[in-house]
Amino acid sequence: MNSPRRMSPRPRQKKKSAATIPVPPRWRRDVERILITERQLAGRVKALARQIERDYRGREIVVVALLNGTVLFLADLVRHLNLPLRLDFIGVSSYGSGVTPGELVFTKELRLDVRGRDVLLVDDILDTGKTLSRVLPKIKILKPRRIRTCVLLDKPSRRVEKISPNYVGFTIPDAFVVGYGLDFAERYRNLPFIGVLHPHIYKELGAQAVPNH
Ligand code: PRP
Repeated sequence: MNSPRRMSPRPRQKKKSAATIPVPPRWRRDVERILITERQLAGRVKALARQIERDYRGREIVVVALLNGTVLFLADLVRHLNLPLRLDFIGVSSYGSGVTPGELVFTKELRLDVRGRDVLLVDDILDTGKTLSRVLPKIKILKPRRIRTCVLLDKPSRRVEKISPNYVGFTIPDAFVVGYGLDFAERYRNLPFIGVLHPHIYKELGAQAVPNH
């Protein structure tokens, strides 16, 4: 009698790292390499949501997101947050040459009343820290119970202001990153991954090549 066939264990699928995933042909002229894959983003955003949920259990929060770069991250984050929450936005932008950040301009003010509330301030990237260091006092003056900050990307090597966020998705090196909400000259926000921009893209625009998201 034949012995029952031993099932050979299924070879475990090796998780692909960002370095081994090629840039889709459509973006190859613009994006040098993928820094964070779509899958890594999805996993980390879910994990951040779990952590935030645990920290705020039993409380209602006000999520304040900074426009525009935060929209993709925010949409994914809040749909995984099983907490009662209200959502509002502050519009703030650094208008410069496209690469070198210039003056900060507020394009939308907060409308919700945050007095006595737990505020979670969400941004896509913390770079020099100039944006958060301008925004935080604007919220503090409204007397919230507490403000915590959550950023998808942290680029500590570029920091000029003393800011350390409460929740960080990924700490990244000093590279010019685009995608998943982050732009260069308002483009590339729709990429589903975080990629490193080819230097020739910002050189073509004649801008000074200062790496900044
Ligand atoms: C980006 C980003 C952060 C800020 C971080 O905003 O969304 O808010 O820069 O840089 P910092 O730490 O050096 O201040 P940007 O002004 O480019 O506007 P955007 O969100 O519309 O892209």
